[in-house]
Amino acid sequence: MTSPADVPPDLYGRRARDPFWAAASAFFNGVQRVRSLRPPAVRPVRPVDRTLALVVQEMRREAADVVSLRLGAPDGRALPAWQPGGHLDVRLPSGRRRQYSLCGDPADRRSYRIAVRRLPGGGGGSREVHDTLTEGAALTAEEPRNAFPFLARDRYLFLAGGIGITPILPMVQAAERLGADWRLVYTGRTRASLAFLDELPAGRTEVRTDDEHGVPDCAALLAAAPADAAVYCCGPAPMIDAVRAAFVPGGPATLHYERFAPAPIVDGRPFQIELARTGAVLDVPADRSALDVIREKAPTVAYSCRQGFCGTCRVSLLAGDADRRHPSDPAPDSLLVCVSRASGGKLTLDL
Ligand code: FES
Repeated sequence: MTSPADVPPDLYGRRARDPFWAAASAFFNGVQRVRSLRPPAVRPVRPVDRTLALVVQEMRREAADVVSLRLGAPDGRALPAWQPGGHLDVRLPSGRRRQYSLCGDPADRRSYRIAVRRLPGGGGGSREVHDTLTEGAALTAEEPRNAFPFLARDRYLFLAGGIGITPILPMVQAAERLGADWRLVYTGRTRASLAFLDELPAGRTEVRTDDEHGVPDCAALLAAAPADAAVYCCGPAPMIDAVRAAFVPGGPATLHYERFAPAPIVDGRPFQIELARTGAVLDVPADRSALDVIREKAPTVAYSCRQGFCGTCRVSLLAGDADRRHPSDPAPDSLLVCVSRASGGKLTLDL
């Protein structure tokens, strides 16, 4: 459509004062003004889909009961970036969700590497990886997240127990690139159980196995660290607890740790859960989580981290007063059953 500005000038270069165009111009300007007074259109916010389709490019045995998986996009495209300490929330073909630390090279944007230790008494995720996954298998995962960030420091002490080497390995390599003064103590039952030994820079790595050196004395390990070291620790729950107990806060040293298993329940009281869909009532003892008890009755209930931060185990809370034990569990009508409990009596859940 032609606008009033498109009217050709007359022979003297003046715009025509044609009454039709004057009226059209007034109308056009009026429409523009009305438009500018309207509130801006509000577009609905769409949730961002952070799901990645992945394929197992390579599986390797790294230790007696540890396999590593290299995962890439089916079309080979670049993957979202990650930093040392990051993890991948993987959905296995069975639908189980499990979190695995990224243990490859963050500069490699074409593949992620994770490693999985077989846990015979676990929830079945590690057995599924070891016994059923093969190269070429399709998986999905959430984009990497990081709950164990690696900070730039001059000095580090890394403490890794068993499969706890997975988040520590990229940190060690980052510390080496930074030119930092670092030392790693890598513990485990036997040498054969320790993955990635051949990737650890020699000279700064001390391997201590239970069969050769006995159970490590965490207080002695910490005492040997520089006074201003950043201590990064990942391993089984008893190791983390021992390091935390031995660490003296208040000095220049800092302690950073990541658990692979839930923290022990502190000040737990027994309570009951009613599963509304079946009417079953379950007793939760003081020293067990609601999730553990529910899993005995409903083995397919979804969970992943068992520590309150992934949200996988969230269920609707239909009745009862909750004792919420994690900052990410404030919603009044739902409950993270891996950590939260009843403040007394019974909780009724939509399960
Ligand atoms: S399993 Fe992750 S929050 Fe409960």
